[in-house]
Amino acid sequence: MLILGIETSCDETAAAVVGEDRPRIRASLVLSQLAEHRPFGGIVPEIAARSHLAHLDRLARGALAEAGIGFAALDGIAVTGGPGLIGGVMVGVMFAKAIALARKLPFLAVNHLEGHALTARLTDDVPFPYLLLLVSGGHCQLLAVEGVGRYRRLGTTVDDAAGECFDKGAKLLGLGFPGGPAIESAAQDGDAQRFPLPRPLKGRPGCNFSFSGLKTALRETVAALGGTTALSRQDVADLAAGLQAAIGDCLVDRTAHAIAEFRRQHGSGPLVVAGGVAANRTLRAALTTLASEHGIPFAAPPPALCTDNGAMIAWAGLERLRAGLEDALDFAPRPRWPLDPTAPRATGAGIKA
Ligand code: KG4
Ligand code: ZN
Repeated sequence: MLILGIETSCDETAAAVVGEDRPRIRASLVLSQLAEHRPFGGIVPEIAARSHLAHLDRLARGALAEAGIGFAALDGIAVTGGPGLIGGVMVGVMFAKAIALARKLPFLAVNHLEGHALTARLTDDVPFPYLLLLVSGGHCQLLAVEGVGRYRRLGTTVDDAAGECFDKGAKLLGLGFPGGPAIESAAQDGDAQRFPLPRPLKGRPGCNFSFSGLKTALRETVAALGGTTALSRQDVADLAAGLQAAIGDCLVDRTAHAIAEFRRQHGSGPLVVAGGVAANRTLRAALTTLASEHGIPFAAPPPALCTDNGAMIAWAGLERLRAGLEDALDFAPRPRWPLDPTAPRATGAGIKA
């Protein structure tokens, strides 16, 4: 089985060909739009959509060429159907629908978060059920993954996502965009103990996250030092290390609670991390330790498969096709699309940093 996967929900145009047999990833092309957005200090949705439109055709052809196949060899076409920046999602969905219609191929509208969630099965064949820490630019959730299309949310952020905290923190430190990789590299020469930063919700019951108090504390620390432009190289390194450690501590603490919760419902199961923030080496090391303390297996996809890519969408499409979950061509792109629609809205009532 061979699936073409298309991803256009954020600032990466990506196309990949993935099969059932190993090596599964036959081709995976990712075109970053970073240079186009950098002058604005963040992602501009209209620029993203126009750029996807300009490059997707060439990228998809490139993926097929690299896999050494034509459209006739495909068994289906998978595309991110949401959630994400709606202009970009529409570009991908229309493109995929046109191919599906013209080539009479099964069409699979994949939830971007399900793409991240199933990546550990693409790379490591992790069996269901497993506990997933999904940490990206827009999402920060703990989920019990029970099967394809079957997710139960154990916790979510009541304000910012972890990736957002990295990105906004980097901006405060004058490190530019995207923040995660910049913070990680600046933190290498830093002393995480120099500036005490809070760990919101750490030690509190439940599995929810909160990062806005941490962001505020960082802003106040920077202001006390005279503002972003007054920071020395060492200040930036120490603050980056402090922020990375604080975010990591929060993620590990909440995940520890989720391991206990997951065990009550499913018995013992593996821990998986996914999403762009999962590329962070300090976090991966901390989660490796956490999993071994609890005696459970741990899987983290290689960093290039943690950040957005087409292979994860193709793989999720493949799993959905195998499960008979084909979509109709009247599928409407979704700006919002929770993995667990039954989960209640999280509120930040009563949170203190
Ligand atoms: O999954 P992703 O590529 O896009 C979304 O679906 O949001 O995640 C992007 C996020 C950004 O916030 C970025 O700063 C963060 O992942 N990120 C990292 C690292 N690499 C990317 N955060 C911490 N450390 C990293 N090495
Ligand atoms: Zn993503």
